[in-house]
Amino acid sequence: MSESATDGAMKHVLVLHGPNLHLLGKREPAIYGTTTLADIDRALDAQATGLGIRLTTFQSNHEGALVDIIGEHLGSVDGVLINPAALTHTSVAVRDALSMLGVPVIEVHLSNIAARESFRHHSFVAPIALGTIAGFGADSYRLALDAMAAALARRGQ
Ligand code: DQA
Repeated sequence: MSESATDGAMKHVLVLHGPNLHLLGKREPAIYGTTTLADIDRALDAQATGLGIRLTTFQSNHEGALVDIIGEHLGSVDGVLINPAALTHTSVAVRDALSMLGVPVIEVHLSNIAARESFRHHSFVAPIALGTIAGFGADSYRLALDAMAAALARRGQ
C-alpha cells in the first residue's frame, strides 16, 4: 500500500491552471464563460474546507514553471487537479512530471475539448489521469474536486 503524503492529516491537493487561464472572465467568454480565475479559486477553497482538503493553487503561462511546481510537490501532495490549458495538447514535460508524482490526477477543462477543433482532441495528460472532466464551464472544477475527494476516500479505505 502506498503511503499518503499527509497520512493521518488533512489531504493536500495541488490545483494547477495553465496558460491564459489568468484571463478567464475576459478571455473568449462565449467559450470560457465570465467567471474569473479568482472566483474559481475562491469557490474551490470553500468547497475544499467542507471536504477537509487543503489546497495549494498555482497558475502559470510557462510550461517550465508548471513542471517546477509539480516536481517541488513530489511526496507532499495526495492529488492534483489540473487544467493544463493549451499545454494539454503539447506538453510531454507536464505529463511526465504529473506521472512521476504517483498520485491521482484529474484533468479539467471548462470547454468540451472533444467538440472543438481537432488539435484539441488529443491530450498528453489524459492517459496518466484518473479521469477528465470537461465541458461544464467553471462547474468542471467543482465536479473535479468532488471526484478527487471520493478518490482519496477510496484510497484511504
Ligand atoms: C481549455 C481547453 C484548451 O484547449 C485551451 O487551450 C485552453 C482552455 C479549457 O479549459 O477548456 O486554454 O483547457
